[in-house]
Amino acid sequence: MQEHLIIFDTTLRDGEQSPGASMTKEEKVRIAWQLEQMGVDVIEAGFPAASNGDFEAVRAVAESVKESIVCGLARAIEADIRRTGDALDNTGPSRIHTFIATSPIHMKNKLRMSPEQVIEQAVKAIKWASEYTDNIEFSPEDAGRSEIDFLCRIIEKVIEAGAKTINIPDTVGYTMPEQFGKLIRTLRERIPNSDRAVFSVHCHNDLGLAVANSLSAVLNGARQVECTINGLGERAGNASLEEIVMAVRTRQDYFTCDTKINTKHIVPASKLVSGITGFPVQPNKAIVGANAFAHESGIHQDGVLKHRETYEIMRAEDVGWGANKLLLGKHSGRNAFRSRLKELGIELDSEEVLNNTFMRFKELADKKHEIFDEDLQALVSDEALVPQERYRLLSLKIRCETGETPYACIVISDHGNEMQAESDGSGPVDATFCAIEKLLRSGAQLQLFSVNNITSGTDAQGEVTVRLQKSDRIVNGHGADTDIVVASAKAYLSALNKLHSKLERAHPQV
Ligand code: KIV
Ligand code: ZN
Repeated sequence: MQEHLIIFDTTLRDGEQSPGASMTKEEKVRIAWQLEQMGVDVIEAGFPAASNGDFEAVRAVAESVKESIVCGLARAIEADIRRTGDALDNTGPSRIHTFIATSPIHMKNKLRMSPEQVIEQAVKAIKWASEYTDNIEFSPEDAGRSEIDFLCRIIEKVIEAGAKTINIPDTVGYTMPEQFGKLIRTLRERIPNSDRAVFSVHCHNDLGLAVANSLSAVLNGARQVECTINGLGERAGNASLEEIVMAVRTRQDYFTCDTKINTKHIVPASKLVSGITGFPVQPNKAIVGANAFAHESGIHQDGVLKHRETYEIMRAEDVGWGANKLLLGKHSGRNAFRSRLKELGIELDSEEVLNNTFMRFKELADKKHEIFDEDLQALVSDEALVPQERYRLLSLKIRCETGETPYACIVISDHGNEMQAESDGSGPVDATFCAIEKLLRSGAQLQLFSVNNITSGTDAQGEVTVRLQKSDRIVNGHGADTDIVVASAKAYLSALNKLHSKLERAHPQV
């Protein structure tokens, strides 16, 4: 009988800390629904003290999720913990995750606290949290660079105070797998009350070792892994959920534990997160990359055809490849459309939004015969944003001909006022962006422009991500359309809308 390995997903919190990956409340609820379907044990939904928006998002996720435990992050500060407790109050099963840094470099330079003060603050944090729940997780931030004796002391005290999960973060992705495994083993062996808590790990990928470090910890007794879909997360990201889950599942001969993840939901979750954040998945990414199960060389193809296991250690269909159902066509009615949205966990705010989305679905179905779940997700993302946005694309005319200078003429609505501009450019996208800038003069710098196809085939929708920076703010905008120049214009305007919105979020580690 295998032990249970708890999967704690932090896509909605640490994942959201990637520059430009911030999500709306509705987007968080959709991803949380997908994670719940997948069988994730704990969903870290956000950092409620960061902003009113994140408070609302954590509350909305906690209200809609029934099967998974919903967790909120809080610094070891009374105000943060009370805000998190309030966000989770009167909802389903929940957890408060509190943290304080324990490495000499963080305590001295960031916190400006002595080790004794840090222990005292951590214990107080557990006491405040226990006024709301007995499901409390504690993290000694930057544990990977903390002194072992100090870690043992603080962890013993927080377990005594009531922490039920002890999460060991390798915050800066510094440790090596053998070292990190040994750290977990030593803590479990040396801390007298360690058997009263579940040991968890949270590894960052700065040296590309987040998954290896997490698995090494599992081999040394960790029974919770914190991870994210597609490895999204601060800087180089976190350990990727799909890699952890599939490594443990595929090597059941090697691990003494297993997760309860329904792996068929992995690829749809990956696509959903990639679509919402605009962070594309590299083709050779393990498990969820487009090439992860593709065999190019003749010898491999021959082997797979004769006996699949010659070159395949997992089955593509087991992780959800090919699971995106062929959905609706142009003859489908509103009810079929509404019920498929429901099956995908998408609740539209009002009948008006449903009607608009349905109209746009019909337009899309005219251009593209087969509509897949991913097309619907993209359509809904676009529609959900439109009504409250300042800038909207009304029309776009492009002229492109070999030997001629590309030209764009764009009509935009700014708070309902129509404005028009035209421009030449080095290509149709450049001409479009120049025309937008002629009108709006945002002064933002273009940091990234990327195009991906949402489904396969030349009639697929292109999904464009535009990353803009202005002063110290970085935002990602997304747009989808069967015409990639139109998708580019939508993405550029969506980024400008985000830059324009005044929503400021605090960062948990600052
Ligand atoms: O990386 C980290 O240390 C964190 C903690 C808040 C757990 O994200
Ligand atoms: Zn982290």
